[in-house]
Amino acid sequence: MWRRWECLTIRGRRWVSSLNSGNGTRWWDHVDSAPKDPILGVTEAFLADPNPEKINLGVHSVVHYVELTSMIELAEALVMELESLSSSVNLRLVEESAKLAYGEDSDAIKEQKYAGVLALSGTGACHLFAKFQRHFYPKLCIFLSTPTWSKEKFQYYDPDSKGPQFAALIDDIKNVPDCSFFVHHLCAHNPTGVDPSEEQWREISHQLKKKNHFPFFVMAYQGFASGGLDEDAKAICIFLDDGHLVGCAQSYAKKMGLHGHRVGCLSKLQQSKSQLQQIDRAVYSSPPVHGVLLVSTSLTDSKLK
Ligand SMILES: Cc1ncc(COP(=O)(O)O)c(C=O)c1O
Repeated sequence: MWRRWECLTIRGRRWVSSLNSGNGTRWWDHVDSAPKDPILGVTEAFLADPNPEKINLGVHSVVHYVELTSMIELAEALVMELESLSSSVNLRLVEESAKLAYGEDSDAIKEQKYAGVLALSGTGACHLFAKFQRHFYPKLCIFLSTPTWSKEKFQYYDPDSKGPQFAALIDDIKNVPDCSFFVHHLCAHNPTGVDPSEEQWREISHQLKKKNHFPFFVMAYQGFASGGLDEDAKAICIFLDDGHLVGCAQSYAKKMGLHGHRVGCLSKLQQSKSQLQQIDRAVYSSPPVHGVLLVSTSLTDSKLK
């Protein structure tokens, strides 16, 4: 036993020194540090702050809402009574998420014209969609708003007026190649908090349609902008009325204060569920169960709805 350890140590040393002396393959030498994420930086500052009364206003902001916390506690109690998870629970969450996105009375829901899968929260849903898009449209680009909570591309925010850079945004829609993918924040745009007006959404929808662009919505804060779930989903109604086949990445991290549970949903109009499933199977197979149960119980139990 002792010998084995010694041997490993020596091998380890040899390996390290060969890398340093330039004889090994320098796989990662060209990889620089990524710039710091401003949102995660809030949590880093929170952790470093010794004040005992500190509150993290970063990613876990919603956890402190009393009503939400008690709803989740009630859901916890109900979930404990469920013996095991069957695929019907996953299906229920996809169905309830689609209703939130497309509207309970929409044709998409009534005629089951969508495909959806559970995802690892909002970022997981975006990731799955990006893989799906890359698989079927490898040459087409995805455009994101500038600034956004991750990468950036189309013009969106005007720091002078603190409103949308609307004319520039429309120009970008007109000037990029036809059939591009446009990622919009449904409401409470992160990090600016600035959303287009209803009239501006109508124009955006119209211009996207003219260029055959595909609109994709990320929905991390539905209900936060106006206080109403349906009101905040108004942009999707406009796009559906214009005949777009939209896609949606939904996150329950902030909406339900369940950041650590990674509950989300990817859905899009038109069936192709098997393809979505094939992609999510390769990425994570199936998401953790507990958060899925909490969300689906909260969305469907008559006492909690
Ligand atoms: C618009 C938007 N979508 C998605 C996300 C990521 O959410 P999740 O934590 O669910 O992956 C964020 C996170 O900050 C966001 O602001």
